Amino acid sequence: MSDEPIQAGDLHKRYGNVEAMAGIDLTVPAGTVLALLGPNGAGKTTAVHILTTLVRPDSGWARVAGHDVVREAASVRATIGLAGQLAAVDDFLTGRENLEQIGQLYHLGRRASRQRASELLETMDLADAAHRTARTFSGGMRRRLDLAASLVGRPPVLFLDEPTTGLDPQGRIALWDVIRRLVDDGTTVLLTTQYLEEADRLADQIVMMHLGRVISRGTADELKSAYGGDRLELRLADPSDSARAAGAVATLGTGQAQTDADAGVVTLPVDDGAAALPAVVRHLDGAQVKLSGVLLRRPSLDDVFLALTGSSPDTTADAKRHVPAEAG
Ligand SMILES: Nc1ncnc2c1ncn2[C@@H]1O[C@H](COP(=O)(O)OP(=O)(O)OP(=O)(O)O)[C@@H](O)[C@H]1O
Ligand SMILES: [Mg+2]
Repeated sequence: MSDEPIQAGDLHKRYGNVEAMAGIDLTVPAGTVLALLGPNGAGKTTAVHILTTLVRPDSGWARVAGHDVVREAASVRATIGLAGQLAAVDDFLTGRENLEQIGQLYHLGRRASRQRASELLETMDLADAAHRTARTFSGGMRRRLDLAASLVGRPPVLFLDEPTTGLDPQGRIALWDVIRRLVDDGTTVLLTTQYLEEADRLADQIVMMHLGRVISRGTADELKSAYGGDRLELRLADPSDSARAAGAVATLGTGQAQTDADAGVVTLPVDDGAAALPAVVRHLDGAQVKLSGVLLRRPSLDDVFLALTGSSPDTTADAKRHVPAEAG
């Protein structure tokens, strides 16, 4: 068996008549980030719960840091860090006490626990609030404290369930930095997100999930070029040239050119925008069409998701089926 820190095969989990997990395979190589990307109800939290031993799969298998998540659950728990979708902090302790208490649980000793808490409070930009009880923290601060708590034991394998949900844009970017640094130091991370940009920025591998199934996987670039293709947006100096321009470039695209005659914009789908551009310009020149500008649009992960599911990731899968109250 290979030694990837996170491996899972054919995981199934059913809640009543909802198939939360309908045969999921995952492999996360050491020191990389895998993002589970999907809308509400896709099964992301269920996957995290199974891999972190909180929920047993109905069938299939998973190994984390070499340990079976069902038969060796205690060993798995001793190796991993988890920041769940709902921040688990003790409201009656201060920020610092929350972290020091976990240090003691890890048997770090008083001094080392203090030291580690200070480092993490600093990293998570919570140093100024360290002495306040967590009850007084904002939602974003609680998230960051919870994340800090998951890092106290320097776990080699880290699970983050929607780590930046509820953070403001600045907080999100700061957290991406923290995660990136952990990974650079060798930590293996599985995170879930509904944010395409987050997966794009952080993940080495993206697994797109929908209704308990993997609908696609690959690097952000692979997903984009498999399902999107580039688009050249040709802005015409004279909008009345639109039809002539579309005709001139018709044979150069991978599909039909779209024309917005009012705006004087012709959009051409192509495999590789940079490679196609010279010929496009030549053809337009030959047809005596003057350009005022050209935009090369790479597809976004949003485009990919749309192509695969017919809806955007933020239109919820749960809307399509019954949702129990305690669903996370
Ligand atoms: N304990 C449970 N009891 C019943 N149904 C559940 C339970 N946990 C999850 N489900 C259902 O399983 C499906 C997958 O849920 P899951 O929480 O894994 O989705 P998710 O991708 O994490 O969604 P979100 O983005 O909303 O967090 C949903 O339809 C959910 O309602
Ligand atoms: Mg979830």
